[in-house]
Amino acid sequence: MVALLENPLRVGLQQERTADPAIIVIFGASGDLTQRKLIPAIYQIKRERRLPPEMTIVGVARRDWTHDYFRQHLKDGIEEFGNGVGNEELWQDFTNGIFYCSGNMDEAESYAKLKTFLAELDEQRGTRGNRVFYLAVSPKFFKPALKQLGAAGMLKDRLKSRIVIEKPFGKDLSTAKSLNRAVQRVCKEEQVYRIDHYLGKETVQNILVFRFGNAIFEPLWNRQFVDHVQITVAETVGVEERAGYYETSGALRDMLQNHLMQLFAITAMEPPNSLDADSIRNEKTKVLQATHISEANNLEQSAVRAQYSEGWMKGQPVKGYRQEEGVNPESTTPTFVALKLEIDNWRWKGVPFYLRTGKRMPKKVTEISIHFREVPLLIFQSAAQQTSPNVLTMRIQPNEGISLKFEAKTPGPDLRTRTVNMDFSYGSSFGMATADAYHRLLLDCMLGDQTLFTRADEVEAAWNIVMPLINTWETPSDPDLMPQYEAGTWQPAEAEFMINRDRRRWRRL
Ligand code: BG6
Repeated sequence: MVALLENPLRVGLQQERTADPAIIVIFGASGDLTQRKLIPAIYQIKRERRLPPEMTIVGVARRDWTHDYFRQHLKDGIEEFGNGVGNEELWQDFTNGIFYCSGNMDEAESYAKLKTFLAELDEQRGTRGNRVFYLAVSPKFFKPALKQLGAAGMLKDRLKSRIVIEKPFGKDLSTAKSLNRAVQRVCKEEQVYRIDHYLGKETVQNILVFRFGNAIFEPLWNRQFVDHVQITVAETVGVEERAGYYETSGALRDMLQNHLMQLFAITAMEPPNSLDADSIRNEKTKVLQATHISEANNLEQSAVRAQYSEGWMKGQPVKGYRQEEGVNPESTTPTFVALKLEIDNWRWKGVPFYLRTGKRMPKKVTEISIHFREVPLLIFQSAAQQTSPNVLTMRIQPNEGISLKFEAKTPGPDLRTRTVNMDFSYGSSFGMATADAYHRLLLDCMLGDQTLFTRADEVEAAWNIVMPLINTWETPSDPDLMPQYEAGTWQPAEAEFMINRDRRRWRRL
């Protein structure tokens, strides 16, 4: 295994990286994440010949499955959610390294049994004691699993064992701190890989290349030239079958504290000294620590929450959030959140960052737009000559790319201006689809590269920003006062007012 301390230095730029033999132990092996995301991603790595032949997968879950049943279950997942198994010989080779070990997350005997089994597999498969423990389980099992793994001595060797922790990492600042302490009791930070799958997206990594691999944008990336920034993560899906989880989470915890905060941090951070994991994570943490919700004493001016009510999506009627199965009919869980953030540092003082995310919006779209200041002197006077400020948009998904809006003269004898677009699209420039986020994250974890994983202090800094909202919104309130937006429409009127008050508008998407 690549020593945990020697991080490869070029995030996103490494080629042909191959992991060393290891056993990937997936807790929560019978769950959706394993079948839909993790195994299709690992199999794809195998197809790219980046997985050594010794690589072994052990699924752990309560159900009493056999190895063969588990293998078939994973094969079905690759067919349905991945790129298919393709070459049968390759699949056979992969499947020979898949095993199942039933066990309870909080029982010491299960871990003793697992430990013995892993030692046997080391002999059989040549995995040399290297382990990746992946906690793809409900967050209530994070602490028991950490404790048991620690007690069984399975995380002792910091060069050979790693632990991957899925989101959500805590449900507020104090639970995140307590989970971090539980982690620190049993292993070192360099063994910990906290997942935020947004960091595995190519387009998110490209923000770093765009900002720090080009000389012309960075000089403009500050309060002198930027009027404000908008970050939008809009989804068309509703709560789906996840009401049980979502009711305790809502858009603030499910999306904003993690995915949007990561997009925000990468957009706003200072240039790192190098591309190693800690240089990048230091800068992200620093900017998060300098950030707060604007007007924290008057939150309704700078934060809006809302729920989708019944409406129409693609010509079909859809339920409102409170009518969804498993949702409390008087729920005050937000499915939409909009925020105005401020950063207290030299680069950004006075530049608002507006963030919004919601389910059941008209379109699935994630983008970051940098709105530049107006020209200092308007020399074009008439309506036909009016200009709009430049906007640089990084389209994270779909239709991945970057575009710059600027003014041009309309051909003809009169002086008329029109806004035009300069556009880069991944599809047409690279002619290939971007890889799934888990593909990249799992490969990095096997390689011991923590760059795209969040660090303890970084996660806590992100929680710290949203705590005023949690404290205010989670005191019991009249459910009738919860703002609503019709499914299939953009944000509620309250979110429009929030930005219009500053004489700005949400970007039309
Ligand atoms: C997950 C959230 O983390 O991200 C989901 O739990 C959400 O509610 C999903 O739908 C969005 O991810 P993506 O990659 O589809 O934008």
